[in-house]
Amino acid sequence: MEAIWGIGGTDQHHYPTLNEDISADAVVIGAGITGITTALQLADAGMDVVVLEALAVGQGGTGGSTGNLYSTVARGLAPLRKTWDDATIRDVVNARALAIDHIEALVERFGIDCQFHRRVLYHIAKAEDKQILETLDAEREAMRCAGLEVKSAEDAMLPFQMTHGLKIEGQAQFNPLRYVQGLARAVSQQSVRIFEGSPVREVKYPQGVVVTDKATVTAHHIIHATHTPKGINLLHASLLPSREYGIGVKLNSGAYPEGIFFVHDPFHSLRSYRHGDEHYLVVIGEQHKTGEGQADAAYFERLHAYISEHFDVESIAYRWSNQQYSPADGLPYIGRMHGKDNAYLATGFAADGLTWGSLAGMIIADLVTRRDSPWRTHFDSSRFDSRRFTPGKSAMNWARENASVTKHLAKDYLGTRNLKELADVSPGQGKVMTLKGEKLAIYMSHDGELSVLSAVCPHMKCLVHWNGAETSWDCPCHGSRFDIQGEVIEGPAYHPLARREQPH
Ligand code: FES
Repeated sequence: MEAIWGIGGTDQHHYPTLNEDISADAVVIGAGITGITTALQLADAGMDVVVLEALAVGQGGTGGSTGNLYSTVARGLAPLRKTWDDATIRDVVNARALAIDHIEALVERFGIDCQFHRRVLYHIAKAEDKQILETLDAEREAMRCAGLEVKSAEDAMLPFQMTHGLKIEGQAQFNPLRYVQGLARAVSQQSVRIFEGSPVREVKYPQGVVVTDKATVTAHHIIHATHTPKGINLLHASLLPSREYGIGVKLNSGAYPEGIFFVHDPFHSLRSYRHGDEHYLVVIGEQHKTGEGQADAAYFERLHAYISEHFDVESIAYRWSNQQYSPADGLPYIGRMHGKDNAYLATGFAADGLTWGSLAGMIIADLVTRRDSPWRTHFDSSRFDSRRFTPGKSAMNWARENASVTKHLAKDYLGTRNLKELADVSPGQGKVMTLKGEKLAIYMSHDGELSVLSAVCPHMKCLVHWNGAETSWDCPCHGSRFDIQGEVIEGPAYHPLARREQPH
């Protein structure tokens, strides 16, 4: 699986693995848009910064995103109004608009070739569904309350029988991978030290030490920019991890619509992307909770079928997936880590991570440097504070989250079938089995080789589930994901799934 953003080669620069103990003013864990933006802001303030990345720059959530930048939020401002007041909604929109301006300024400052363009954002309903129409009406009202100029979407170039639509102008699109790689190259030339292939295994907060496989970084400030904070954190109970799928298709017609399209039928996100003479339509959808994917795992096929109803699809050229962490009360958590003077985090970006991540980099850098933040004149940062706890506002979601986690803890341990036949595992598939009283995650390769791992997630002991669409072991509790060797792909777990002897 490969996301479209790597098309034609990218600005990938290879950074070394951390092999010796070093120190710095600040260490940033994660080299996606949040981490690299934070590193840039800190370096601009004169700090000595180290960035640690488990994979490669931009290859996590940033490289799997849509490349859409908008001042609203993908799932709508109207749902936010159920929890937050109108002043907060305005602050959200203003802050996100400023973050987009900041991205545009950085593209210019460093001459990053990432195809940044201002675009129109459309919300479209193509079904005569009362609920969908009410959703769009509520969104129109929420946008107006936030100070946005909302217009009719009659000019949307979609081959849909559109029943209802609205648009806002001045939003943007880019290639997120090329952007973050370009920004990483720029910060590395400004003295920021970036290390790839250096997964963090432990953070010793009192000593300010971050431990990787081969060496450590000692720093005054530790910033978690890993989509969700590593290790055990109270916030994990307030975050709903989910997966969403994307395809990049070629069209026979050659007519690719320009803009950001949120289609409510149910929700799909569409955009086009051009690289040289190559043009593609990007389709995003089929969201489900992490670890609860359907058995047939036919998400890409369903996206293909959906878009083929409306467009003359020639072929699928790209397919990929991404993870989201949705916050219980609708707003991300950005700021100091609860109970830690020297640690910061940014998480809960839902489907809107590129803009939130950029904003988070600026907020965290202001907190670390204790400077008078220019952002304070635009919004009240306490609304994004990672230490906020709003049981009244988030009680419903919070209860649902915990019910979900509890369900998995109980059902997975008590209810997994006591399978005795390893032949139940098909080639290319995995299964959780109980063998000799232990829960095992067993995968059979297409050559018949078995990989046998403990099915117990090393984060907080939930059981992982097989993800056939992406050939991974996914934990439904807080979203940790592991490859078939057990290595951490993403999520809060520091350590891999434990290897086990092949059962006889
Ligand atoms: Fe928390 Fe697995 S991610 S228990």
